[in-house]
Amino acid sequence: MCGIVGAVGINNPRDYALKGLKMLEYRGYDSAGVGFLDQGIKIYKDVGSPEHLGDILPTEIKTDTIIGHTRWATHGMPSKENSHPHISAQRKIALVHNGVIENAHDIKVFLKEKGYSFYSKTDTELVVNLLEYYYFEYKDMIQALIKVRSILDGSYALVIVSEDHPGTLFMLKKGSPLLIGKGNGFNLVASDASPMINFTNEFVDLDDYDFGYINKDEIRIFDKDSKEVNKPIIHKDVELISHDLKGYPHYMLKEIEEIDEVVKRLVSNYYQDNKYIFDDNLIKDLKESDHIMFLGCGTSYHASLVGGRLFENINNISTSKYIASEWAFHPTFPGQKPFVILISQSGETADLIHCMNVIKEKKIRSLLITNTPGCTLSKGVTYTLQLYAGVEISVASTKAYAAQVALLALLAGAINKDPKIVEDLKGTVKVIENIQKTLKEPIAQIAEEIKDNEHVFFLGRSFDYFLSLEASLKLKEISYIHSEAYPGGELKHGPIALIKEGLPVIVFITDPITASSMRSNIEEVKSRGAKVYVISTKDLAIPKDTLIVENYPYYLSSVAISSIAFYLAYYVSLKKGYNVDKPHNLAKSVTVE
Ligand code: G6P
Repeated sequence: MCGIVGAVGINNPRDYALKGLKMLEYRGYDSAGVGFLDQGIKIYKDVGSPEHLGDILPTEIKTDTIIGHTRWATHGMPSKENSHPHISAQRKIALVHNGVIENAHDIKVFLKEKGYSFYSKTDTELVVNLLEYYYFEYKDMIQALIKVRSILDGSYALVIVSEDHPGTLFMLKKGSPLLIGKGNGFNLVASDASPMINFTNEFVDLDDYDFGYINKDEIRIFDKDSKEVNKPIIHKDVELISHDLKGYPHYMLKEIEEIDEVVKRLVSNYYQDNKYIFDDNLIKDLKESDHIMFLGCGTSYHASLVGGRLFENINNISTSKYIASEWAFHPTFPGQKPFVILISQSGETADLIHCMNVIKEKKIRSLLITNTPGCTLSKGVTYTLQLYAGVEISVASTKAYAAQVALLALLAGAINKDPKIVEDLKGTVKVIENIQKTLKEPIAQIAEEIKDNEHVFFLGRSFDYFLSLEASLKLKEISYIHSEAYPGGELKHGPIALIKEGLPVIVFITDPITASSMRSNIEEVKSRGAKVYVISTKDLAIPKDTLIVENYPYYLSSVAISSIAFYLAYYVSLKKGYNVDKPHNLAKSVTVE
């Protein structure tokens, strides 16, 4: 978590830093700060989002060397002292940091022995002082960086200003992302391309253990062996990383309403001229494996539940699905020839990076499904498939979830060379569009009715259960209502004890095989006083159902009608007056374990 920007030689550094940090808010937004060189190092920082920084920064900044940071607290609560940039004791060096230093305690002991004291509770303040200590010792920043790199454990993307090096930004990276934007007469750096995309479309991606510096004319990078390297220039697509709200009041609403386009784009990217377009080796590996393991966190884990069931049902392959943070510390590899599918919208989730390192060490073949080209995870897996969903800014994931499931369905189709899946997916687009056109008002009405409850239940079976899990998570995340999702059949084995007069129970019925069992489950909760809202498909509906949608193949619930779940969470949050796109305590990119 945490977002970083830096610039040298740019015309309006204040504007770049403020706008850039705003674009990186999805990485954290509890405090923010900017540091720059202007007759010494100047730092402005405070609690609150980057927007607030505009109020405390001078309107004119005379510098050509600036760094900025938006924070999601790890070491030390959100406070002005703990905000970045952090400055060294002799005010020679300041830096911004994304990541977590695991041997912070040892570094602190070392620095204390050398006479250092600290103003904050952060691991970052230790790093800046460690760097200053070795800079004084070697009188050379490159040597100091090499030494500091050899000491630091954990993850770090560091962007550094030094009083003795005006017009230069140093950097060092491991585990957390750092991208350089190559300009003409200026150079930029940031956690991702979005702050830089209006200035350049040429980027240089740093690998783990890389370090180096930029000035307005040069980019110089050294690799893990400290040898200077010529990194390739990558070109990024402006459209896919645009932060334009396009007239919507919130990113979440915009992103929900992009789901139909995302599904269409996925289908046309992975199925052309009546053929699936996937790497032949990937399909061969999937076919030859006797067990496919899925790993993900949060929403991506929910997508993996759907993916696993699809592979079991459609391809007859045995699967297991794990929450990445659970698997990472007790890894198991079922089967003789396992294959691992990691799912991560951001491609940066620390829990998954941990898993990836275990998988790599065991030389197990793996696939990453992600929405972020060039992400950290893609560097450690055998194959990567892109979701092409366009940048997702709202912390609550919506279009990426639908895309993950759609892509998994396409993959299942490709393994069997079954074109029907493509037709089924194309069919969901109409369902999604209809929901957008006709159901927003009724969903907002449900939101109005449930918004003041402390608890909500979601029920479904099979694919509708997986969707229920996601619907429940979404509601929790942005409306702060306690919510649970259960398989319809499991309710009577415990949770039914919680059903009481007026408790909202939201039920999905889109699977013909389980529809009548679900109707019985509805009677069970109704007779205990629950207020039931039923979402069903036309063929399975009864007139009293709350929302009735067009028919679609039941295994595609998470693509066809996930927008209902997302709208519901959106409207509840909106009606409660919360910040829909930036719920408290969360961040979109979770780079700590
Ligand atoms: C965070 C986000 C969730 C997301 C999860 C996994 O918890 O708030 O929305 O589902 O991380 O993220 P990933 O980028 O790995 O899909």
